[in-house]
Amino acid sequence: MLSRLSNVASFTISVFVLIALHFIFSGNLRGEETVSIEIDSKALRVQVSPDLYGIFFEEINHAGEGGLYAEMIENRDFEIVNRPKGTRMLGYNLRTPSGWAQGKWFGNELHGWRLITEQSGIATYHLDKNHPLNEQNPYFMKLVVRKNGTRVGVSNNGFWGMHFQQNEMYHLSLYARTEGNSQFDLTAQLESAGGHKVYATAKIKQVGGDWKQYTCSLLPDATDANGRLTIYVEGSGTIGFDVVSLFPRKTFRNRPNGLRPDLVQMLVDLKPAFLRFPGGAIVGGLCLDNRIQWKHSIGNISQRKGTVNLWGYYTTNGLGFHEYLQLAEDLNADALWVCNPGFSDNYRGAEECRPEEVEAFVQEAMDALEYALGPVDSRWGSKRAANGHPDPFRLKYIEIGNEARGKLYDENYPQFYETIKAKYPDVTIISNQDQIPRAPVEMVDHHKYGPPGSFFKAVNQYDEADRDGPYIYVGEYGVREGVGEGNLMAALSEAAYLIGLERNSDIVRMSSYAPLFYNVNDIAWPVNMIGFDSSRVFGRSSYYVQKLFSLNRPDEVLQTRVLPEKRPQDALVYALAGVDAKNHELVIKAVNRSESAIMAEISIKTQEKLGGQVKAILLGHDNPQAENSLDYPDKIVPQEELFSLKPTKKFEYRFQPYSLTVLRLPWISGDLKSNSMSN
Ligand code: AHR
Repeated sequence: MLSRLSNVASFTISVFVLIALHFIFSGNLRGEETVSIEIDSKALRVQVSPDLYGIFFEEINHAGEGGLYAEMIENRDFEIVNRPKGTRMLGYNLRTPSGWAQGKWFGNELHGWRLITEQSGIATYHLDKNHPLNEQNPYFMKLVVRKNGTRVGVSNNGFWGMHFQQNEMYHLSLYARTEGNSQFDLTAQLESAGGHKVYATAKIKQVGGDWKQYTCSLLPDATDANGRLTIYVEGSGTIGFDVVSLFPRKTFRNRPNGLRPDLVQMLVDLKPAFLRFPGGAIVGGLCLDNRIQWKHSIGNISQRKGTVNLWGYYTTNGLGFHEYLQLAEDLNADALWVCNPGFSDNYRGAEECRPEEVEAFVQEAMDALEYALGPVDSRWGSKRAANGHPDPFRLKYIEIGNEARGKLYDENYPQFYETIKAKYPDVTIISNQDQIPRAPVEMVDHHKYGPPGSFFKAVNQYDEADRDGPYIYVGEYGVREGVGEGNLMAALSEAAYLIGLERNSDIVRMSSYAPLFYNVNDIAWPVNMIGFDSSRVFGRSSYYVQKLFSLNRPDEVLQTRVLPEKRPQDALVYALAGVDAKNHELVIKAVNRSESAIMAEISIKTQEKLGGQVKAILLGHDNPQAENSLDYPDKIVPQEELFSLKPTKKFEYRFQPYSLTVLRLPWISGDLKSNSMSN
């Protein structure tokens, strides 16, 4: 770490010295590997898609539930035991109708909750189905108090501890009903994990009768990242609880049922062009009833229906269709929604709908489009308005299925395509397959996971792509093998790969790294982009690669050759130059994946010259295995430097070992500006 810092510092200090040296010596520093980077501004240019860099959100690794979604209670609606239709339990396994066995299911009926009976208190609690809150929520928690002690009640520790911040307000909402003539006074408390410290207390008096909603606010007098909520009851008798929800008042843009501001900020900083949701494999689900059903995910949270997802945890659907669309809008991004194609996930023994049911799946997609885009007097558009958003959302893309394939996909896709296009001609339809018999493919979604070597090797993957074929969306990619939880070498190989995508952006129109988020306490996928716990968040070096590419996306890329030419798997330096028309800058991105600094002679074929104040942004470390983490979030973060360059067509630059460098060089007019760009 230190050596890298000093490296960076020496990089800082030595920039001027080096630049001076570069121009003093016509040759290179002794002993260093050298390359030439030739940029041809006169050769054919490639327009870079403004949508090239987006984000992919899937409910995996507690990305939403216990993550982005600011709800603090785990299993708030007690529906964790609710099994998808058609499934059965075989031992601890859940068996789907197609015979797929899911190893992990929930044996503990009141997962997340604990009974508190202290001193002389006598009480029991259990899950109950008798006279539930509503159809969507058939289960609730029943607490039977036989004798009140000093403390009788229930507690919930949230998702690996609740984070309370001193003097920030928290809102508690719960539904309760009592039996017989019982009446209770409730005391809600924000406490330390074991209840030894109390940070905030609020009373809810005279709780009795049929289901009613009760609310109160709590203002903690201290900060704790590992707290719990406790609801104590005074009185004896029977009381039922359902949809117990605790939210911080401070959510992103203070939206109710909102999102964690620190996690959203990480996304804001990426300036994504689009937001893809809700997945991922979760779109298909373990079986059809387990698929994401967007209609279960809108409206009042007490009316939503959750499910255990195929990543092994319960999702309330509190972060639902409306919230995703709202997030896209808040990010100034277009929405890309993935619908179910009429069968569940291909990798989990796909359960297929019957032929006569396909139409219902197409209708499910059409209704979603109407919710997002339809007028306020349409059936679903009116629900959007009732949920607080009369204007249409920016839903620009729909993808039919995720990693779906086979005969049924080929058969169903045309039906989706024709019906959607007829009503929504401007919505781009994305296919999972390059070709579909009997239907056009406008854009196809490609996925790529593997070790770093496979990403370096794939830098030229799209150079020969069929320019008459569909547009390409690299919808999921990421190094996931042999890189710990996500080290620098993973990030550098992704950066090289992105150079390949950007260079081919005439055909590769969109891309999104996957998966996006992970709660460090439950990692279902080996390598992810943004890690967090209840109170902290950090980006892996892959995150900063994404950020650097997104924030330094040129309008056009120029033909760029790195000499001596090597096969992509053997190269040490990958580079690409492009034009940022608005800022009148040449943007050069270069990856040096070797352990040594590499001197590059950079030459530009242009009539006019480059020069002025150059910005160099460096992402690197002297250890390619280095990783950012919650405790060390800043090991590998971009460092910016400025240096001046006399007007020139040729200069030398020393690329640091194990680094991605972005150079932004002002151009002094001339043919860097193409005819298609305004000044
Ligand atoms: O990104 C994680 C998973 O990888 C996605 O859910 C799935 O589409 C792919 O296999």
